[in-house]
Amino acid sequence: DEQQYDYDVLVIGAGPGGYVAAIRAAQLGLRTACAESRETLGGTCLNVGCIPSKALLHASELYEEATGGHLAKFGVNFQGVSLDLDQMHAEKAKAVKELTGGIEFLFKKNKVTWLKGRAAFQDAHRVEVGGQVVTAKDIVIATGSSVTPLPGVAIDQKVVVDSTGALALPKVPEHLVVIGGGVIGLELGSVWRRLGAKVTVVEYLDQILPGFDGEVRKESAKLFKKQGMDLLTGTKVTGVTVEGDRAQVQVEPAAGGEAQVLAADAVLVAIGRKPNIDGLNLEAAGVALTERGQVGIDHDFRTNVPGIWAIGDVAPGLMLAHKAEDEGVAVAENIAGQTGIVNHDVIPSVVYTMPEIAGVGLSEEAAKAKGEVKVGKFPFMANSRAKTNRDTDGFVKIIADANTDRVLGVWIVSSLAGTMIAQAAQAMEFGATSEDIAYTCHAHPTHSEAVKEAAMAVQGKPIHI
Ligand code: FAD
Ligand code: NAI
Repeated sequence: DEQQYDYDVLVIGAGPGGYVAAIRAAQLGLRTACAESRETLGGTCLNVGCIPSKALLHASELYEEATGGHLAKFGVNFQGVSLDLDQMHAEKAKAVKELTGGIEFLFKKNKVTWLKGRAAFQDAHRVEVGGQVVTAKDIVIATGSSVTPLPGVAIDQKVVVDSTGALALPKVPEHLVVIGGGVIGLELGSVWRRLGAKVTVVEYLDQILPGFDGEVRKESAKLFKKQGMDLLTGTKVTGVTVEGDRAQVQVEPAAGGEAQVLAADAVLVAIGRKPNIDGLNLEAAGVALTERGQVGIDHDFRTNVPGIWAIGDVAPGLMLAHKAEDEGVAVAENIAGQTGIVNHDVIPSVVYTMPEIAGVGLSEEAAKAKGEVKVGKFPFMANSRAKTNRDTDGFVKIIADANTDRVLGVWIVSSLAGTMIAQAAQAMEFGATSEDIAYTCHAHPTHSEAVKEAAMAVQGKPIHI
């Protein structure tokens, strides 16, 4: 009966959700194909997202260290530092090529068939991909997301760009106006500020980084301002006009008030992302959407149509690569009759600026809305390694249930926050109390000791503050 289908599993989209689902399905013995319309595998993340943005963040950080005079106090002096932006882009492109090529290798190794072209449903088990029709018993929708357009602001990828354009600017802008004080705006704004641009971030809400812990949002804003970024919060963009290679950005207070005009030579639109469903012809299969236009799923990633599943950015939840990857493993295991589960309460978020900003679990505000909490904080100013490295920006904050002491959320602002948050996620996954963390031996001298000290602070007894 199953042999009547060309494949056991067809995955649509080869981003972190789709390529991982395809590999795990093949590992579980299922005949698997993956449709991808891009020239290379890896989706948004590897091609125009996580990877190229981290390449530029790393390179621009090195440039800022070299030019900012920070190294002289460590006795490292040099002259003649200059920027070769073409080389910076070339090294970024090389990393992207190596990693997307790596996925192609993994597909071959695991015998996943790559169907090149755009996929569109014909019915619940039949999909057209690049002119060819294939059938599959189970189909996973993993088509990802793309930038949310701002009405009245046309993206030309020259003067007005989205994140893809902002990853490829051929020269450093004099004045970059970023619309949206979220993750993309702050990461890519930081890249171009470090390379010499004046950067103004226009954020509609009264604070950057919605969804993050309140204190973390405030501290981050303070640090970005100290670095020279202009943050216009509580401000909306009412229009952008482009003339030649210059733009005029009209802004006014979100609450109403006097308008002003920002002159810029580059404008980045980064106000969020929306699920990719256009052209998929979901109607032909009868797949239902949520109110917000995502593909609706249950706890097991099943849509309303038997045999059709959805994961990653196209489905509800955080739009993060590791969330998509974990859902990719889980959906393949569910299709194979196993029990695939993702704990959506413990998904870390990281902003890869300097310092990095990371969190997992609940913010203090969200935790308080659910019950009584205890909070412990420890500043890197009091951490010996951070002090020694002259790297004292930030803090660790742990939020625990006041009655059970169970850890509900951990927030870290630090140069190493993205790496350190894994320890917090693991502790929470294991149901740790703050006492469990406080009595775990941490190596000295490390930034990680600040996590232990923040846990000790939840108990009211930190040693070093
Ligand atoms: P995607 O990666 O979007 O992949 C979907 C794929 O499906 C695409 O390749 C697309 O071409 C293909 N596709 C769509 N429709 C069809 C069709 N009809 N037929 C065939 N193929 C189709 N997340 C992090 O966790 N960490 C980061 O540091 C990070 N940095 C980011 C930086 C930027 C600038 C951006 C834009 C995003 C970043 N993200 C980051 C988010 C991350 O990229 C996404 O959460 C992740 O890529 C989602 O994976 P996905 O598999 O759901 O979809
Ligand atoms: P975002 O949701 O993080 O931030 C968008 C910001 O724009 C919000 O602060 C919002 O209040 C603001 N905004 C919305 N409309 C506005 C308007 N009209 N004018 C001014 N401000 C407005 O979205 P962003 O930065 O575009 O990123 C998209 C997704 O990509 C995110 O969901 C994020 O998870 C993912 N991503 C993750 C990264 C990471 O994990 N390091 C890096 C980059 C992106």
